[in-house]
Amino acid sequence: MSRAELRYDGRVAIVTGAGSGLGRDYALNLAKRGASVVVNDLGVDTRGRQAAEGSESSAQAVVREIESAGGKAVACHESCATRAGGAAIVQAALDAFGRVDILIHNAGFLRNGPFESLTDEQIHSIMDVHLLAAFYVGQPAFAAMKQNGYGRILLTSSASAFFGMPWQTNYAAAKLGLAGLVNALSLEGQAHGINVNALLPTGSGRLGKGDSDMDWPDGLMASVPAGMELIAPQMRNEFVTPMVMWLVNERSKTTHGYYSATAGRFSRIFIGAARGWLSDAMNPPMPEDIEEHMAEIDDISRYDIPLKVFDEFEPIVAAQRALLEGKGD
Ligand SMILES: NC(=O)c1ccc[n+]([C@@H]2O[C@H](COP(=O)([O-])OP(=O)(O)OC[C@H]3O[C@@H](n4cnc5c(N)ncnc54)[C@H](O)[C@@H]3O)[C@@H](O)[C@H]2O)c1
Repeated sequence: MSRAELRYDGRVAIVTGAGSGLGRDYALNLAKRGASVVVNDLGVDTRGRQAAEGSESSAQAVVREIESAGGKAVACHESCATRAGGAAIVQAALDAFGRVDILIHNAGFLRNGPFESLTDEQIHSIMDVHLLAAFYVGQPAFAAMKQNGYGRILLTSSASAFFGMPWQTNYAAAKLGLAGLVNALSLEGQAHGINVNALLPTGSGRLGKGDSDMDWPDGLMASVPAGMELIAPQMRNEFVTPMVMWLVNERSKTTHGYYSATAGRFSRIFIGAARGWLSDAMNPPMPEDIEEHMAEIDDISRYDIPLKVFDEFEPIVAAQRALLEGKGD
């Protein structure tokens, strides 16, 4: 079967943190398939400290690579973690290419540490670069997309946020905050042709290598499952980028989703509400009733996936109706 190539001709993409790692791979691949790309990178190390760069910045090096392959790109060295920087990044796209179609917010770094000793600096810098940057770049980008009635926004979340990782409370909170942003913004984007999703990648960028320079609790690796050598070869950017390319393509209608691209396994991650336990309609329960029914409350063998606040009411209404009609189970 011949498959129509996914193309990005005429599309303008902004990729934050595109000077290295995963972001670089997205920028190169988008440009290869026709997109004009704003390669945004501040050039910092894995803890967010200014990295020593040579005569050419990492963003300029990516632009040079794209241009020498015949593609179109501009470098932008503003920080996506400030309001002014975010505005400047979007303005760079408008100045160079006249529109914004795709935003991939990917920039970031880590400031791990035990919860009780995280400093304000460790907390705020992580919130700024992962979560607030999605507002700083996202708001002007969304406004520009709205004008064209088209947009694809992909925010980079993390398995650490959805599933948990010690010494990353700052990072996990920021990254899961992006899921909330996806939930609300995807609804706002619907009327304007703007799709909004999040990605949980496992790649070969600097933040995925279990950097020995990074702070981790002792014994963390003891809980890694056996057989990791079977999937280690797929833990690289080439096994992440295809998912990203699909989600930001015109043919993809997917919105309001979180997708994991991990070691060659591509999978939707979802938030569900267990069917739970329905209390007596006339008598508010006692705390002891909650204790008594915890097994039902915790039972995730039956669940719904609400995609907006009102969706959560539907199964409750149905269960209440069934009870009233004497058909409850
Ligand atoms: N690599 C993984 O396995 C993995 C796993 C889960 C999540 N992630 C997330 O994916 C993204 C990319 O990870 P990576 O491993 O490729 O990282 P990386 O360190 O290789 O690249 C991140 C880039 O972001 C840039 N950056 C940092 N702060 C910036 C700022 N304020 N403005 C502009 N650019 C800035 C850095 O200079 C760097 O080039 C991150 O958001 C990370 O949290 C990665």
